[in-house]
Amino acid sequence: MSNRLNAPNDLRAFWMPFTANRQFKKEPRLFVGAKDMYYTTHDGRQVLDGTAGLWCVNAGHCRPKITEAIREQAGELDYAPAFQLGHPKAFELANRLVDIAPEGMDHVLYTNSGSESVETALKVALAYHRAKGDGARSRLIGRERGYHGVNFGGISVGGIVSNRKMFGSLLTGVDHMPHTHFPDKNAFSRGEPEHGGDIASELQRIITLHDASTIAAVIVEPVAGSTGVLIPPKGYLQKLREICTQHGILLIFDEVITGFGRLGAPFAAQYFDVKPDIITTAKGLTNGVIPMGAVFVTSEIHDAFMSGPEHMIEFFHGYTYSGNPIACAAALGTLDTYKEEGLLTRAAELASYWEDGLHSLKDCPNVIDIRNVGLIGAVELAPIAGEPTKRAFNAFLKAYEQGLLIRTTGDIIALSPPLIIEKQQIEELFGKLRNVLQNNI
Ligand SMILES: Cc1ncc(COP(=O)(O)O)c(C=O)c1O
Repeated sequence: MSNRLNAPNDLRAFWMPFTANRQFKKEPRLFVGAKDMYYTTHDGRQVLDGTAGLWCVNAGHCRPKITEAIREQAGELDYAPAFQLGHPKAFELANRLVDIAPEGMDHVLYTNSGSESVETALKVALAYHRAKGDGARSRLIGRERGYHGVNFGGISVGGIVSNRKMFGSLLTGVDHMPHTHFPDKNAFSRGEPEHGGDIASELQRIITLHDASTIAAVIVEPVAGSTGVLIPPKGYLQKLREICTQHGILLIFDEVITGFGRLGAPFAAQYFDVKPDIITTAKGLTNGVIPMGAVFVTSEIHDAFMSGPEHMIEFFHGYTYSGNPIACAAALGTLDTYKEEGLLTRAAELASYWEDGLHSLKDCPNVIDIRNVGLIGAVELAPIAGEPTKRAFNAFLKAYEQGLLIRTTGDIIALSPPLIIEKQQIEELFGKLRNVLQNNI
């Protein structure tokens, strides 16, 4: 038996994810409650949620339909085995999801996170080609600065150096397209930047190098989020689609942050009018309340697996919690909330107001770029000489003190509020952020 006598509020045991643990434990920041657009801190302050938690609480906090659905489901059917058995809500949810997905994305696999959605999508892509007798297609192409979660497939196709460098040689047979950030030409663009769409033709160069017959899939975030919000230049995604189609390569959109209304359409694929073959989602699927993800695939992909004896498993993949009843109930409550309140298209109504508010910060000290699309915004700051990331981290701490939650990555501030945000809260957000930026950070 342990002889440790830690006080219940001792902070040492929990090794926190993606956190400066030593700094945090000296100056803890704890949330103890949340409602709609605001968190309540342990010291009783209200904090405006400028980031929808971690890009996931799209309908705002503690929404009654979702809370109620979870409560009811927990008392009715808590768990059903996910393999060879089912429960009604898993099927109901899949149908509801397919209804709002881009046309032709007719089948859904469940996961428990964005990272698992990515692993699932990569495995579907590899297995699809093999099922079609094209098993030499085993290469995966990602992009510099891409974020696809933290599992081995995701960090292999991802392009964020700090997420990769500690973890050995990763998956083999992976290549990366160049990123799409051209601050010299595109700084302070509103929406999709004018310059740089042609960089998509670098995919053609990679295909020429490896030969199309060896390439299974290309994976990109339609809007790169975690690297600090990079909006695709005009024509870029369309060109990727054309090249993939021409060479029989599957195109995967990682919509873990853009899915469920972030841009003003249910999915970025609809917003940009570019149809991928596979879409990964999580986060907004359950409003962040219960861990769950979903991977959408076309009928063509699904049907390629449906051969062989009927008693045989068609795809050797899945999780104990795939389609967990409580997660499905939370997702159904979330979709009901989105529908009743028009949240999957609300970002389109607010986008220009949001854009004007965001770009009004251009005159603040150290601001070197501002980027936006839908209800996403980024403010890039000049790094403090010799101390990269510190200026943005200082801004995060100051904002928290002043009652505003922002997210930072490198020296970039990223914003993605719940889609229920009102205009006067947009003003509050940018007013507070202006104070922070003017405060000698
Ligand atoms: C595009 C993208 N893919 C995957 C993930 C990973 O999701 P999770 O943290 O749920 O594993 C994220 C998380 O931010 C993401 O933004």
